[in-house]
Amino acid sequence: MPEHSISSSLDRIPKSGIRKLFDLAQSMEGIISLGIGEPDFDTPPHIVEASIKALKEGKTYYSPNSGLLELRQAISEKMKKQNFIDVSENEIMITVGGGQALALAIQSSIKTGDGVIVPSPAFVAYVPTVILSGGNPIEVECKEDENFILNPDLLEEKITEKTELLILNSPSNPTGAVMKKRDLEKISDIIMEYNLKVISDEVYESLIYDGKKHVSLASLNGMENNVITVNSFSKTYSMTGWRVGYLSSKDESLFDRMLKLHMYGPVCNNTFAQFGALEALKGSQDFVNHMRDEFEDRRNLLMKRIEEMKGVSAIKPEGAFYLFMNISQTKMKSEEFSEKLLNEEKVVSVPGAAFGPYSDEFVRLAYPLKKEKINEACDRIERFLSKN
Ligand SMILES: Cc1ncc(COP(=O)(O)O)c(C=O)c1O
Repeated sequence: MPEHSISSSLDRIPKSGIRKLFDLAQSMEGIISLGIGEPDFDTPPHIVEASIKALKEGKTYYSPNSGLLELRQAISEKMKKQNFIDVSENEIMITVGGGQALALAIQSSIKTGDGVIVPSPAFVAYVPTVILSGGNPIEVECKEDENFILNPDLLEEKITEKTELLILNSPSNPTGAVMKKRDLEKISDIIMEYNLKVISDEVYESLIYDGKKHVSLASLNGMENNVITVNSFSKTYSMTGWRVGYLSSKDESLFDRMLKLHMYGPVCNNTFAQFGALEALKGSQDFVNHMRDEFEDRRNLLMKRIEEMKGVSAIKPEGAFYLFMNISQTKMKSEEFSEKLLNEEKVVSVPGAAFGPYSDEFVRLAYPLKKEKINEACDRIERFLSKN
């Protein structure tokens, strides 16, 4: 293992597998993008108003490092009631989006050379953040014929004495897979046996369909001290640009390490944005339910259209707003498929290769866009498939 520094590790990670495609799309007209990773709804007005009110009332100063006490108390209440995780306000930290929470959790948990298990396909930030933190990412394939759910036997095979951390993400970006309680229980047995730390990335918790409910790993027996739960206001309340996320951990020493990293970095989150987030939790949740219903309709439409196509297939995603389309019958690799689809039909998709080594036969289609646009994109994909 070479000596680690962030600066030298930066040379080992790519900028982003999808950058080239997005740059190309910028210069084109008439594009329909199925590449977007954020809801297409404005933040609800009552949340915006709460933030404006805070600004007008002079709430323009630093907040405590770990975040506004009222907000942490509201999150603690929400986590107890909704996630069945018993954490106090002192075990919660407000971060710059879920993204910073992930970085703090990874950086504070591992030492140079520690193994970090990343179920793959995975959210694009996990592996680069592990590398930047001096860790050794170990990707475990989540297979399509197992609904992209982490197989406990495959997980156990990859564990060595160097393994320190596991990163779980349900609902998943990019597959939309949702882990059920029984899936999590099987994994939790292994976590306990090997005493692993786990980051549970639950930023899509509110976007689960067909009447199913999210299950938080930290709510399971024996898990509460091993798990760092990462969450965010970005997707649940359509607040991606606000940059408010949070983490919780009952491991006091780990929490202190994360707090040190946070206080010598951003210091604290934007105070007025935190007042908006407080209103998001305290105010009506109608918007959250409405947005979920809307995404469920769109998922159904996209799924139906894909089932009618020749040459591609997909398993029905149960959460988030992504569908992982299998393109193996086209005999194209994912980057070639996405590039050609963009050039020929002006539809943006994200090549599976961007999400790890096991997904070059897939492309990710994101559906935070109006149904007319989804239909038009599908017409174009159909035409593309008939020609290629
Ligand atoms: C799986 C996953 N985790 C975390 C994030 C981070 O989101 P944010 O930093 O906006 O909270 C994203 C964003 O796309 C995501 O898809």
